[in-house]
Amino acid sequence: MIEQLHANRDLPDVDLKKLIETSLYDQELFRHADEVRREYYGTDVYIRGLIEFTNYCRNDCFYCGIRWKNLKLERYRLSKSEILCCCEIGYGLGYRTFVLQGGEDPFYTDEQISEIVAEIRKKYTDCAITLSLGEKSYESYELFFRAGANRYLLRHETANAEHYAKLHPVGMSLENRKRCLWNLREIGYQVGSGFMVGSPFQTTACLIEDLRFLQQLRPAMIGIGPFIAHRATPFNRFSSGDLRLTLRLIGILRLMFPNALIPATTALGTADPQGREMGLRAGANVVMPNLSPVEVRSKYELYDNKICTGDEAAECCACLSRRVRAAGYEIVMDIGNVRPLKEQLPQNHKTREKV
Ligand code: 5AD
Ligand code: FES
Repeated sequence: MIEQLHANRDLPDVDLKKLIETSLYDQELFRHADEVRREYYGTDVYIRGLIEFTNYCRNDCFYCGIRWKNLKLERYRLSKSEILCCCEIGYGLGYRTFVLQGGEDPFYTDEQISEIVAEIRKKYTDCAITLSLGEKSYESYELFFRAGANRYLLRHETANAEHYAKLHPVGMSLENRKRCLWNLREIGYQVGSGFMVGSPFQTTACLIEDLRFLQQLRPAMIGIGPFIAHRATPFNRFSSGDLRLTLRLIGILRLMFPNALIPATTALGTADPQGREMGLRAGANVVMPNLSPVEVRSKYELYDNKICTGDEAAECCACLSRRVRAAGYEIVMDIGNVRPLKEQLPQNHKTREKV
């Protein structure tokens, strides 16, 4: 099955189901995934500087710690000059991608976001600007793109509409999430999507739908991480997503999407102290250290016990490069664009087209 997945970048649903549900083939899967990641990226690990600039959010996703209904959370917003300061520090440390991530915060108008983006763009012509601000209109996305943003992260969370409805309040829909993702792609962004592993009510069938949706969207980046309960959410009593399953899915993603940028996420590092290293060995090739000011880091708490929120994480860099090297890879100070997909495919491969 794994050789078939490697060769065809695809498997029938029945085999995917088997592969997802057993740990029997994990070592072989990771070996193949690592071979493919090395073919495309060598030992390179790209870093992205994450700037969590607002923890205000108008949404109420049932899993998320910064949801509007969490009245216990102390809210913060960074000003334009604070954001620029994060970029300056990050640039000095060698970062060439800045990720501006926040809750859906109506406080920042499209004009303000565009101004911030334009200012970063003007100062750092050799950097990628990634936005992760949730669902916006086509026009807003277009404005940000024109201001100089190149990439956008928006996880689809789950590609099954019924499951989506169990994770989100009325008013949010998978349909709209997908529309946003297609809009972003049409505008010209390098799109990142992804999903949580082990979110409440998720089944293997949901995970297969996630993979099938990603085959349609073909995003440049695919971020996955285990669900981790947050005490102040309706999902506080659900158990966390399984680490091994998350790693297995990273391996599967690497074989299905050979050239994808796949981060070893903070949630993975929270689930296990060695989680990110294991993620890299399973096929991930990106890490996204926190560049937010130390004072606000602990307030961007999407789930309980999120790592790298104290000042021990101050610049993360030395510790991180040591960890990445110990896992067998090397951090590179590079804009870290997606590599082109090699097209020589076996005869029996069927390419899935956008429907
Ligand atoms: N556990 C794990 N991941 C979460 N996210 C939000 N809440 C949680 C949680 N409780 C993820 C979502 C979101 C990303 C920014 O963080 O997938 O898209
Ligand atoms: Fe903010 Fe989900 S709670 S987008």
